[in-house]
Amino acid sequence: MTASDHVRTVEEISFIDPATSSDPYDAFALLQRECPVYRVPETGAYMVTKYDHVREVLRDHATFSNQPASSPAMAPGGTRAKVEAMLRERGWAHVNTLQRTDPPEHTRYRKLLDRVFSAARVRELTPYIESVARELIDDFIDDGACDFNQQFAMPMPGTIIAEQLGLGRTEVARFKRWADAMLGVSYGGGPLTAEQILANAEIELEAQHFFRDVFEARRVEPREDLMSRLVHAHGEDEQPLTMDELQNVMHQLITGGFETTQSAINHGLWALIRHPELLPRLQADPALIKTFVEEVLRWESPVVFLSRSTTRDAALGEVTIPEGSTVMVGFGAANRDQERFVCPERFDIDRGDLQGHVAFGNGVHYCVGAMLARQEMLTAFTQVVERMDQIELAQPLPEPVHYFSMSFIPMHDFHITFRKRDAGKTASTKDPDGRGGADGR
Ligand code: HEM
Repeated sequence: MTASDHVRTVEEISFIDPATSSDPYDAFALLQRECPVYRVPETGAYMVTKYDHVREVLRDHATFSNQPASSPAMAPGGTRAKVEAMLRERGWAHVNTLQRTDPPEHTRYRKLLDRVFSAARVRELTPYIESVARELIDDFIDDGACDFNQQFAMPMPGTIIAEQLGLGRTEVARFKRWADAMLGVSYGGGPLTAEQILANAEIELEAQHFFRDVFEARRVEPREDLMSRLVHAHGEDEQPLTMDELQNVMHQLITGGFETTQSAINHGLWALIRHPELLPRLQADPALIKTFVEEVLRWESPVVFLSRSTTRDAALGEVTIPEGSTVMVGFGAANRDQERFVCPERFDIDRGDLQGHVAFGNGVHYCVGAMLARQEMLTAFTQVVERMDQIELAQPLPEPVHYFSMSFIPMHDFHITFRKRDAGKTASTKDPDGRGGADGR
């Protein structure tokens, strides 16, 4: 059963239902029409789904703060406090940095991180990104079939981040275990139980101790990797990041940069399968891959929701959101708003209104890894388009198609068949301005 089968009125909507969280678009359209600022009955949070409201929230950081609200949704009572105590006693508690801060505090972190993820750095990394993609495809191209998620969409960003963290190229599985624990993706359907959340905290502690050792080693002996850049990102007159801050930034880079890129690559391939006329077009004109990437990001935005908390009563449309409320910002919903995008449910690389999608956010927290993510997607699809033909599902995708998550849309295993294309030249996939086809900040 898909969400559209059972969501006919606002009262029937439940985002805790795995079918709705996996396929939320009918529910979003209903809310946009009838209740654009929606109070989620299960949590009391306010869900914002219209494009204009989402932009308004993202740009007004004085009212809609990134400092976490006191009562975050979804964790069983007392579990968060227990997790924080475990991390404080045996590792590093979650201090607030970067995405969890507002200006002017945010400005300092952002300046440091912008240096780490500069356009020049992404250009330098591009040949390496291409080699990771090429080697992964080499491993399955002669088989005519693969699990695209397990063999490409996951290990591509996974290998790139894992190696930047100081893990070996073969340690993606170890990295994925850490990332899954930090993300709290539920592989069993429905929200995580208290036991699962506590088990994830144990795994996070293991990762924290590994990072501490690498940070300390790179402080003394820098290398050409992300960890070294983070430790040495401060200028002469600036304070270096403390170990608490470094740990928190790592947490954000892993939770923000891995599943999102994996999801974007998976959903891009799924779009190619659902729209078979596209592959020959992209093969004939690879310059279109850039636009294809942007439409994938709009159509199935990897970040569905992130939250803000209100510092004062805030009027949004006809609703006043009380001070101290949690606001769920609907990036995925905004990108499907029919008042902003013509026929938003249609995947269309020729649409004239793609500029300005909010898959990477908007305002001061605009994704710091956007250039890297776009480059990874561009490289991934340039190579897929060059090397594969007649891509089809080997078996129907499971229902629901996505694992349960309130923030992301993680795909299950994704078995495909394809025909190997004749060897062609491997084009360079440099994206010189790094901003792809849509708005930056
Ligand atoms: C397709 C892939 C990606 C998508 C769709 C995505 C989406 C987003 C969104 C929507 C935000 C805004 C958050 C907010 O407003 O609170 C954001 C911020 C952020 N992203 Fe990404 N992201 C992606 C890839 C990455 C990568 C590769 C990294 C780094 C390795 C990364 C790291 C971050 C960080 C650290 C922030 C917080 C920035 C700040 O608060 O100033 N993201 N991302």
